[in-house]
Amino acid sequence: MKDLEVDIKYGSWNFGGKIPKSFEDHVKKSVPFYDNGHQIIKSLSNFFMYKNALSYDLGCSTSNLNIMLSKHLKGKKVKFIGIDEEKKMIILSKKKIKKNKIKNIELIHSDLTRIKFQKSNLIISYYTLQFLTPSERPKLLKKIYKSLHTRGAFILFEKIRGNDERFQDILNSLYYDFKESNGISPKNILNKTKAIRGVLEPYSDTANIKILTKCGFRNIQTIFQYLNFKGYLCIK
Ligand SMILES: C[S@@+](CC[C@H](N)C(=O)[O-])C[C@H]1O[C@@H](n2cnc3c(N)ncnc32)[C@H](O)[C@@H]1O
Repeated sequence: MKDLEVDIKYGSWNFGGKIPKSFEDHVKKSVPFYDNGHQIIKSLSNFFMYKNALSYDLGCSTSNLNIMLSKHLKGKKVKFIGIDEEKKMIILSKKKIKKNKIKNIELIHSDLTRIKFQKSNLIISYYTLQFLTPSERPKLLKKIYKSLHTRGAFILFEKIRGNDERFQDILNSLYYDFKESNGISPKNILNKTKAIRGVLEPYSDTANIKILTKCGFRNIQTIFQYLNFKGYLCIK
């Protein structure tokens, strides 16, 4: 697989243009254990997706996760909603959903900040919240908390910063090694770090817990961590 050429313009990163077509190949090279994270969510879904349950996937990209969940929970009367602001991601999602003959996934082409959530049982943000500006995050998290039924769950996976400068340095260096070992060239690793400046804004683990708690979540459990990639299960 050819290395993804990343535009080097500072802060130019987005999920439009040529990205959607190559997204699935490249996300696996840059997000450690991308498929395993989905598998964890699949197993967790059994605890929250009972009869008539509703689940949201925020920033669904090509709908890999919702398709997997729909197949996994086949036969149960449940519904999935995938939201993404990139039109091309929605078009690719529609094609995949149709190809898989799935009827219980709805797609919404919208910025997450504009969504009026229905009452729901499970809300997933798999490496998406980190792309919202810090001022948008608490507003969205409060809406997520409000949307969930009691004992409903919010599953959050995020890239995180180290707890101090030294740990941040070490984690970042190891992450670059990870990318290089997956065939991403040093030039493209550098270009991507320039392109995501001001676009991807990770919080530290402590900052994530603080904002989740402030927005209502009191029951938070780590469900995944590999270097600076972390998953949380938050139960209302
Ligand atoms: C890293 S990808 C998420 C990967 C995906 N959840 C998966 O499991 O494959 C981030 C996605 O979030 C979308 N996104 C980013 N900010 C958004 C926003 N404010 N509203 C809606 N979608 C957004 C992007 O278009 C992109 O498809």
